[in-house]
Amino acid sequence: MTRPEDEDGYELWLRYRRVGEPALLERYQRQITSMVLLGAAASADGEPATPTLAAAVTELQAGLSGLLGRPVALSSDPNQPGALLLGRTLTPGLEDFRRAAPTVPAPAPAGSGAATQAASRQEPLDELGRDGFALVTSTAGALRTAIVGTSDLGILYGAFQLLRLLQTGGDIRALALASSPRLGLRILNHWDNLDRTVERGYAGFSLWDWQKLPDYLDPRYTDYARACASVGINGSVLTNVNANALVLKDDYIDKVAALAQVFRPYGVRVYLTARFSSPIELDGLSTADPCDPDVRGWWRRRVDGIYRKIPDFGGFVVKANSEGQPGPQNYRRSHAEGANLLADALAEHGGILMWRAFVYDHEVPVDRAKQAYDEFVPLDGSFRSNVVVQVKNGPIDFQPREPHHPLLGAMPKTPLLLELQLTQEYLGCATHLAYLAPLFKECLDTDTGATGPGSTVAKVIDGSLHGHDLTGMCSVANIGTDRNWCGHPFAPANWYAFGRLCWDPALSARSIAEEWLRMTFSLDARFVEGAAKIMLDSREAVVDYMTPLGLHHQMAVSHHYGPGPWVSEGRPDWTSVYYHRADDQGIGFDRSPAGSNAVAQYFEPLRSQYAQLDQCPEEHLLWFHHVGWDQRLRSGRTLWEELCYRYQRGVDSVRGFQASWASLAESVDEARFRHVSEFLRIQEKEARWWRDACVLYFQTFSRRPLPAGYEPAEKSLEELRVLRHYYVPGIHNPFVAKKPRAMSVTRLESRK
Ligand code: GCU
Repeated sequence: MTRPEDEDGYELWLRYRRVGEPALLERYQRQITSMVLLGAAASADGEPATPTLAAAVTELQAGLSGLLGRPVALSSDPNQPGALLLGRTLTPGLEDFRRAAPTVPAPAPAGSGAATQAASRQEPLDELGRDGFALVTSTAGALRTAIVGTSDLGILYGAFQLLRLLQTGGDIRALALASSPRLGLRILNHWDNLDRTVERGYAGFSLWDWQKLPDYLDPRYTDYARACASVGINGSVLTNVNANALVLKDDYIDKVAALAQVFRPYGVRVYLTARFSSPIELDGLSTADPCDPDVRGWWRRRVDGIYRKIPDFGGFVVKANSEGQPGPQNYRRSHAEGANLLADALAEHGGILMWRAFVYDHEVPVDRAKQAYDEFVPLDGSFRSNVVVQVKNGPIDFQPREPHHPLLGAMPKTPLLLELQLTQEYLGCATHLAYLAPLFKECLDTDTGATGPGSTVAKVIDGSLHGHDLTGMCSVANIGTDRNWCGHPFAPANWYAFGRLCWDPALSARSIAEEWLRMTFSLDARFVEGAAKIMLDSREAVVDYMTPLGLHHQMAVSHHYGPGPWVSEGRPDWTSVYYHRADDQGIGFDRSPAGSNAVAQYFEPLRSQYAQLDQCPEEHLLWFHHVGWDQRLRSGRTLWEELCYRYQRGVDSVRGFQASWASLAESVDEARFRHVSEFLRIQEKEARWWRDACVLYFQTFSRRPLPAGYEPAEKSLEELRVLRHYYVPGIHNPFVAKKPRAMSVTRLESRK
């Protein structure tokens, strides 16, 4: 077998190489020979009637000519054999298709199976959900294929789905497939600063070239929007949650408007982060108090100004009274009063306000994990209808594993937006292979018990549990100027998986991995199986070598790169010792009723399960309990032995990934093969670093020998403790970038 040609990863999963298998190629070539815009989809001159339809046609032309190895031109004859018809649901000309597929599966409720698979209730084609599509073949007469969308955007989504089928070698001869997005808001959060650094970004600088905007439109903006649309992502928050008020100034809004214009055909709306103190910082108001009429007027005028330039502006995300950010509490107002101020300004334009629940006080509560719940549950029902409260998947901060956030399910009167993190702030930056769909699924599939059995997180955020129309997920992006977008050749899988899960939270991590691998690398079955196994095992390996058995927040201070279980200085809840609480008796944070009683924030039966040491799932053991070193675990090993065993297992898993990847060399081009191999070497080295730092440090408390089978450390604890790392990406370099002018109303704390 000859090795594929080198690739640099720029095309992501949108690679349209000619279909390799001759019989399949011939079949595809026969089935699709021309493209026809039906009814209102075509303008008088036969061209696509809207920019979104033009985007669909351009993508199909590029995709089909690549995959089929010959051009597929626009034509006007819908009856021609091989026609690919594009139209809205009720477009005349689709009668044959209705006969071929008079009904299509309705979108399945979350948790009950993929929307694209057969569902029990059948719906007429016209009842597809918003921006949904159907792919249908008609064999009555000539073999033709139709992409039917409920909107132009639905047609674009359908075009990407058809291309995906061709890219993955699917059978398209008898299509009767219908699909609509399960979640309404499907949003990427870019933590991008205006100086183009990216907070917690490990893939270069920000894509947004503010200095050259609005005059120069980097073609990469279009490719970004294509990639987002291909997985159904429909929103992009351009700026960091630690917001800079400058982005709300008119000259920046012109730049934002230019990006919005590029993204618009792809259905990607722009959003911005709003700094709560903007009225003071931009226009010298004496206060940012949400109840002050001048402040209300200021926001109204600012928002009106934005909508004049960006009529489909999505709205704002706000991080307030968290980690030094200003907010309503500076004026003794609640989070709801703060959120409603901005929501009112956005409401008449149809904008939404995403208010983050990631809050914890610098007064350092008894348990940081409890604070968001304590602050927000009493506010349930007091937010405007265009507010969504944005809740991280876990109660601390995007750790390799956390139990689900107790707010999920606990605010029945408020729509909640689940916030995930694609960028690997706590999972090895961009050099560790960590496929995160299993982490996302673990959260989505968790049964919160909020309204009895079956109250999964997926049902909380898709609105079905408490009857909300505003539904969705967002995720901190892992995208930057690196040629391959995300740094690690496997990291785009997380961007891809996020979009696919927003579309349908019921999809499995495996099916998404396999789909992504086929589109990104190769259809070779042995390769897909081997590489999918690496992906599916990868997150658990990171948990093992960083924070097994429910440990959390053990990273180095500030840049969070590498281990730092000994971190004990500064604000207590930014230290590692606060979270592991190791002593000569044992290790772990007691959140049982005898401890901080964080378990009380969960619904039954989880509350009791988590509260009791012998019932608590071992993966969360040290999250909820302080456990004795000699406590026997299910494996028969003591806690100390199990901890050592898991750290070692994490390292061994990475070695297993190295061996598996090496065995797949022939199916991958040399460039990407080497890139992954070299990163796996870094990952193995850093897994050992984590293992040794944590085990040697915890051993100073356990005073027990290392169990048999545990590899001796290469460095001493003292040597590991003094390692320093400068200029780690993902954090403002204090020598080149100053933070925006600190405001007087709040104490800006030094960064953790
Ligand atoms: C984490 C992260 C910060 C970020 C914060 C947030 O704490 O380290 O960089 O600002 O989350 O989500 O607001």
